[in-house]
Amino acid sequence: MSRVLVTGAVSGLGAALTAAFRARGDEVLATDRVSTGSSDRVDLQLDITSDDDWAAALAAVEERWGGLDVLVNNAGVAGGGRIDVAGLDEWEWILEINLLGVVRGCRTFTPMLKRQRSGRIVNVASLAGLVHPAGMASYNAVKAGVVALTETLGHELSPYGVRASVVCPSYFRTNLMDSLRGADEALGAIVTQLVERSPWTADDIAAAVLAGLDAGDEVILPDPAARAAYELKLRDRPAYDVQMRHQAARLEELGGPVG
Ligand SMILES: NC(=O)c1ccc[n+]([C@@H]2O[C@H](COP(=O)([O-])OP(=O)(O)OC[C@H]3O[C@@H](n4cnc5c(N)ncnc54)[C@H](O)[C@@H]3O)[C@@H](O)[C@H]2O)c1
Repeated sequence: MSRVLVTGAVSGLGAALTAAFRARGDEVLATDRVSTGSSDRVDLQLDITSDDDWAAALAAVEERWGGLDVLVNNAGVAGGGRIDVAGLDEWEWILEINLLGVVRGCRTFTPMLKRQRSGRIVNVASLAGLVHPAGMASYNAVKAGVVALTETLGHELSPYGVRASVVCPSYFRTNLMDSLRGADEALGAIVTQLVERSPWTADDIAAAVLAGLDAGDEVILPDPAARAAYELKLRDRPAYDVQMRHQAARLEELGGPVG
């Protein structure tokens, strides 16, 4: 039995991971920015951008369990947009949630994990953290930041017996696009379609994440599309570039030239 904290547990992958951990007998503290009164899926209100909320989560974990085995930094939002369309406010918004929210979680729980000399940090990035499609610079950059953060912590915390894994899925069907903000409507339309038409559900991804964790994987590519795209980038960079440039041209066709 593991003691697990999940962020963004009300919807999508967070809800699916919570259910999957519980189904195998683990105990989960399900957290989300929404209040405990508004959803029966949330045990504790935790907005990942709030230092006070993280301090309260640490206190709740200490009181409930006296320690933690798995921290799942899953909560995130959708953004992006071409470099001359998306405003700096959009960059700051997504940086604060998708990167600094994860950093805050890691900073909050690392002293506890180091003290107990065990535990695991699981950060949900995206395939976009490894391969970088046109029109998504801010999302790609913050998810690449989560990939780098996680690898760094894997090295840094290994002397303490603490492990770190990053999850890099391709598109799967959730409510993610409800959170989309941004001026680039063409990009929003393309990504919304990719999420809605994905063959994979959050439950599919959650099952693959648990299998990856059990296998000890540090980088978890939980679906075939993610594995194929990353393979292509590693093994055949020219073919990858052709595919990415094709997508960029499609975005220009849809969105029209900017300026
Ligand atoms: N759905 C996809 O196609 C996809 C692909 C790759 C990666 N991801 C990543 O998976 C993670 C989960 O997303 P999802 O697809 O399940 O989306 P979702 O919108 O269904 O769920 C996200 C959850 O995070 C919560 N949340 C948002 N901002 C928060 C904050 N500041 N503090 C606390 N909770 C907050 C939301 O309330 C929601 O419950 C995200 O990090 C996302 O970037 C999703």
